[in-house]
Amino acid sequence: MLILAIESSCDETSAAVLEEKSFFSRSKGINVLSNIVSTQIEFHKKYGGIVPEVAARKHIELIASVVKEAIDKSNVPLKKIDAVAATYGPGLVGSLIVGLCYAKALAWGLKKPFIGINHLEGHLYANMLSKDVKKVEFPFISLLVSGGHTMIILVKGHGEYEVLGQTRDDAAGEAFDKVARVLGLGYPGGPVIDKIAKEGIANIKFKKPMMEDSYGYDFSFSGIKTAVVNYVANKKEPLTEQEIKDVSASFQQTVVETLVEKLISAAKDKNIKTVSIAGGVSANSALREYFKKRCNEESITPIVPPFEFSTDNAAMIGAAAIFKFKKKEFSPLDLKPIASLKL
Ligand code: KG4
Ligand code: ZN
Repeated sequence: MLILAIESSCDETSAAVLEEKSFFSRSKGINVLSNIVSTQIEFHKKYGGIVPEVAARKHIELIASVVKEAIDKSNVPLKKIDAVAATYGPGLVGSLIVGLCYAKALAWGLKKPFIGINHLEGHLYANMLSKDVKKVEFPFISLLVSGGHTMIILVKGHGEYEVLGQTRDDAAGEAFDKVARVLGLGYPGGPVIDKIAKEGIANIKFKKPMMEDSYGYDFSFSGIKTAVVNYVANKKEPLTEQEIKDVSASFQQTVVETLVEKLISAAKDKNIKTVSIAGGVSANSALREYFKKRCNEESITPIVPPFEFSTDNAAMIGAAAIFKFKKKEFSPLDLKPIASLKL
């Protein structure tokens, strides 16, 4: 089975071709034949964040060439594609419309099924592209951490989800981006904090938010963001380069420990033996390391998506579409984008 997938929910225009080998073929599993990601970061950097209007216009400029590149690189003739998939939410509505309309038109033109995918489900299915995919067993628990979401999800089976906890205010990725802005590190904040924290010492004690039992598996990241803002404001002199690294390391460590400890307690409480991480923040090297360490200590199997499928990409949308295709869960061609689509 061959799927062409498109992702355009935020500021990445992406297209991918995936092949699912049949049960009888020698190399079972999902092959990502191409995954083209064209990021618009350079255009948004000067505004310190994403400008929705600019993002939508850039998607329009890029979509045709990104899809063509994905097809060319995969060496699969367009007419051999079995279905076309695209993200229909959540995300910026102007951005979503571009990929969605393109995918629907392509499916209609090719007379092939169209499959609308929830972006959050796409992030979860990035785990199906992990080298440890054989270890993925239902039910498992996933920590989905991105720029817009922070959730602990019980995945009971394909398409069967129970949200156990989520953030009550900012998402973890949003906190990374805001803290980076306060420290003058630019946008997006996650990758740069990840990088410079390696040279910093986590010597500042920021309080881990909402660790009391009464909060269950919910999170809050607006408090730690304010704590960093206040820490910087209370300094009489501008922070030195080393101090910026130390603040970054301290902030990152607090967030990482909060995320992983909640995830581990959810797994222990529910007696779940497989856990995964997903979403843009799961690219964070400290999170990946601490996650694996804690899982080993608790004899839990950790599943981590390949680095390139952690942040927004179309391959993860294609992976989710493969499982929908098998169940013949196709979408109508009048499917609308839904900015606040829930899991
Ligand atoms: O999943 P994603 O690409 O887009 C959304 O669905 O939101 O996530 C983007 C978020 C941004 O907030 C970005 O700063 C964060 O993921 N991020 C990271 C890293 N790479 C991206 N956060 C921490 N460490 C990273 N290495
Ligand atoms: Zn995302």
